[in-house]
Amino acid sequence: MADMHYHDYLQLDKILNSQFPESEKQNLSAHDEMLFIIIHQTYELWFKQLHHEVDAVAAIMRKPALNDNSPELQTVVHRLNRCVTILRVLVHQIDIMETMTPMDFLDFRDMLRPASGFQSWQFKQLEAKLGLKFDNRHGKEYYTAQLRKEHVDVIKNAEGTSSLLDLVNNWLERMPLAPPLSDDPNSFWQIYRDSYQGSLADAEKGNITELEEIFFDIKPQTSNPDKSGQALKQFSATASRAALFIMLYRGYPLLQQPFQLLNCLLEIDEQLSSWRYRHMNMVHRMIGTRIGTGGSSGKDYLKAAADKHYIFREIAQLNSFLIERRKLPALPKEMEKRLGFVHG
Ligand code: HEM
Repeated sequence: MADMHYHDYLQLDKILNSQFPESEKQNLSAHDEMLFIIIHQTYELWFKQLHHEVDAVAAIMRKPALNDNSPELQTVVHRLNRCVTILRVLVHQIDIMETMTPMDFLDFRDMLRPASGFQSWQFKQLEAKLGLKFDNRHGKEYYTAQLRKEHVDVIKNAEGTSSLLDLVNNWLERMPLAPPLSDDPNSFWQIYRDSYQGSLADAEKGNITELEEIFFDIKPQTSNPDKSGQALKQFSATASRAALFIMLYRGYPLLQQPFQLLNCLLEIDEQLSSWRYRHMNMVHRMIGTRIGTGGSSGKDYLKAAADKHYIFREIAQLNSFLIERRKLPALPKEMEKRLGFVHG
């Protein structure tokens, strides 16, 4: 068997021969089109890697009995952390794109129409796999309007499969560590509720209704429109209680990995959002208020999508319901023992 060679292993023949600037074909000078192509290709490669990681994480989370005290949870956290690191690089890559000036872009911009990053099905599939539901998308039908049928199918298929957000919800629901809900005024969650109520400023008194709705599943008497404008609630009350419990008692050994997992999801949302804002500002700088090559309103479209497309906002929202550490209800000895390294 012939020795493996770097060039063949990496299929460099294909990769390095996949850049065909339109300007060259038309014999026009547009030096920066090569950069534009390579940056987009690099993004798509990293998107592919992100899919690889998210698929692997989902495969573990999909198991009916993920042991919180097992190496599997550590693997989930490790891979999600890798996703975060890749996303950070993706945010920074915009620095390179911004070395292209608006005039440099104008040299070839019209040759691209109607192609646009808007047609990046890998990006939209990733959003769907993470948990962005169709109903929560800005522009609804419009977001797939410019995709090929086979790519729309890929995204719809991801939307129809349990997303990472769904799987995290199920995992939290199964988590046996959080105290159960009870009407007993001396039970954990009732004490917590009272403590939280005591911590609210006058202007925040309404938060108690939200707490009861999110964590106790008690519907408010008068309908209170969701402040975030997000119609679809994706975390059940049981899952929300488990997540809050993890946030509150994360110092216990058994809750450290679950806390890291939730934290990674918040970090993914934050990095995705940073990317959207940096991309939007770059677009503004590059084309001002003109429409995009994909035909959207350009910056305005991107701003609306950036504001709406937070995927793990329900986890971020939990932080509104924390109370001071020193006021946390003490856990029964038996429970403390269960949350430690050694089980009695
Ligand atoms: C000169 C640089 C760029 C400009 C002027 C630009 C412009 C735009 C505009 C105006 C849109 C809105 C859709 C449209 O009407 O076309 C858009 C969407 C998008 N662009 Fe870019 N873009 C640039 C670079 C990039 C790069 C490097 C990527 C990396 C993959 C990218 C990925 C995307 C994605 C994923 C969307 C869809 C966002 C969403 O629907 O939420 N763009 N871009």
